Amino acid sequence: MITITRKIKNKFLNNAAPQKDYTQWNGYRLPMPENRYCTPEFKDDNYFVNSSKKEVDRLVEYANLKEGSRVLDIGSGQGRLAIGLAHFFPKLDSYFGLDVDRHSVDWCKRNISSVQENFNFLHLDIENERYNPNGYKLDTPVQLPFKDNSFDIIFLYSVFTHMRSKDVKFYLSEIKRMLAKDSYVLFTAYSEENCENESENPKGYLEDEYGQSLGALHRIRFSQSYWTEMIDDAGFRIDNFFHQCEKVTKQSIYIIKHK
Ligand SMILES: C[S@@+](CC[C@H](N)C(=O)[O-])C[C@H]1O[C@@H](n2cnc3c(N)ncnc32)[C@H](O)[C@@H]1O
Repeated sequence: MITITRKIKNKFLNNAAPQKDYTQWNGYRLPMPENRYCTPEFKDDNYFVNSSKKEVDRLVEYANLKEGSRVLDIGSGQGRLAIGLAHFFPKLDSYFGLDVDRHSVDWCKRNISSVQENFNFLHLDIENERYNPNGYKLDTPVQLPFKDNSFDIIFLYSVFTHMRSKDVKFYLSEIKRMLAKDSYVLFTAYSEENCENESENPKGYLEDEYGQSLGALHRIRFSQSYWTEMIDDAGFRIDNFFHQCEKVTKQSIYIIKHK
């Protein structure tokens, strides 16, 4: 009897329709709210899509985004930028999203690349204590899988905010190699004056407004002078800087170019 019940159960389980892993909003296919990164505001579909459009507008205004652009999105997460780009620039020359979180990369492949073949996602098995603790430690240098001068825009939103300076320096040097002449990098960061060069989850920092820092690498803050030094050492210059311009996280934005 037990065996028969088990057999019937297994048959149903095996034939069960795969669980839907996306939600639909105004023609956009979006990640399930519980899987979205950043602050709780992003769980709202309208907010998520608007934020995506805002990134696209920002790249047009500050990074010369156009149809022929080759875009690299490091820490692409659940495809927030890609969803906006696919909507407003479907004929983009190419888009690559890289992330250390395999589930996010798989979601983006299933739900974005399957419709937009010029949009590609790659999993990077690099260690990040918060997002991929068992990945490869960047103690010995590696090369990201792209040729020199491969991209016109490189974007990192809320990625350097979860990375120690050793890893930031690795990415800046790879970005320097992969970024074409006369091109732009746009990234967000916690960057403040009059503080220590680098600190992880600084006590009291943003905690009154946004709650306690939770877990490893939640908020990595660098001083503005340390950012200037790292950017300069990597061979870049600052084209634009907007302090704490991100309303819901108080992150700042850097737009940098080759010197
Ligand atoms: C807060 S989420 C931001 C996601 C996305 N950029 C957005 O704006 O919605 C940070 C992302 O950075 C990724 N990440 C962390 N360390 C990374 C690394 N070393 N290389 C690539 N991605 C990384 C995480 O897996 C996560 O998807």
